[in-house]
Amino acid sequence: MKLFSGSSNRPLAEKIAIELKTKVSPSEIFVFPDGERRIQIQDTVVDEDVVIIQPTTPPAEIHYFELFFLADAAKRSGAKSVTAVVPYLGYQRQDHVFRDGEAVSLEVIVNTMQSVSIDKVISFDLHTIKIPEVFSIPMLHLSALPLFAREIQKQGWGGLDTVLVSPDMGGIRRIKIISEMLKDMPYVTIEKNRDLATGHVEMEEIRGEITHRVVIVDDMISSGGTIVKAAQALRAKGAKEVYVFVTHPVFSSDAPKILQDSAVDKVYVTDSVFVPKERQFPKLRILSLAPVIAGALG
Ligand code: R5P
Repeated sequence: MKLFSGSSNRPLAEKIAIELKTKVSPSEIFVFPDGERRIQIQDTVVDEDVVIIQPTTPPAEIHYFELFFLADAAKRSGAKSVTAVVPYLGYQRQDHVFRDGEAVSLEVIVNTMQSVSIDKVISFDLHTIKIPEVFSIPMLHLSALPLFAREIQKQGWGGLDTVLVSPDMGGIRRIKIISEMLKDMPYVTIEKNRDLATGHVEMEEIRGEITHRVVIVDDMISSGGTIVKAAQALRAKGAKEVYVFVTHPVFSSDAPKILQDSAVDKVYVTDSVFVPKERQFPKLRILSLAPVIAGALG
């Protein structure tokens, strides 16, 4: 197996390589003055299973193109197979037509993956369980929930004073799964309303009883609006400790600042998305997906 990394999350690729007792193979991603990329893999891959680590985080277009070029380079150089490890799958929220006239952007991306001979995709905590259906190539849908459940147990949170929270109705399946992992820890759901035109979120109703400690579980933080509003609403209902477990720290614009200034005590995320030092904040805790990914590849 030969492991390559695009530019979006080299530290994760290095950690996966350590887990697999191998090295990240060299490649060059040259950026021309106009922003175009020229990719060259610099290792022999003839008859090898090639793995490319590249979460397609913002700027998703650039990271997708790097992935496509790396896959193309590997196949042209004789690779037997190409597996794309895309822990965070960009454009996943555009998996169907929400309003007349919209594109199904994710389907365009999957078609392109297929056209550059990517054989398999591995991703984590997709926004809906229907997303793998958009894929015409094998897709392994993994989850950070077992990692989160272990951390919650390690912290000793449970009993009558802790409740899990899904900050929107779309997360019910996710919250039921982690509740089962935690010996049927009780959960509540929040009805969230998002204005599709502005992206603005409002928490409409909390369904269930709030206890001393609440543990919000979600798939991603982008603007931070969902978590900040959910934490406010939960505190208003009497929660005294608010913890957050989210797989993908996309952290667009000023999300780190609004999370640090929010009613949340700690925000646990994974390294599916690289968060540079200057975007990290005191309430942030990062858990690594590398052992899980290595296990799936090994
Ligand atoms: C939405 O349905 C997702 O599960 C997340 O709650 C959402 O994408 C988070 O986005 P933001 O941080 O911008 O509110």
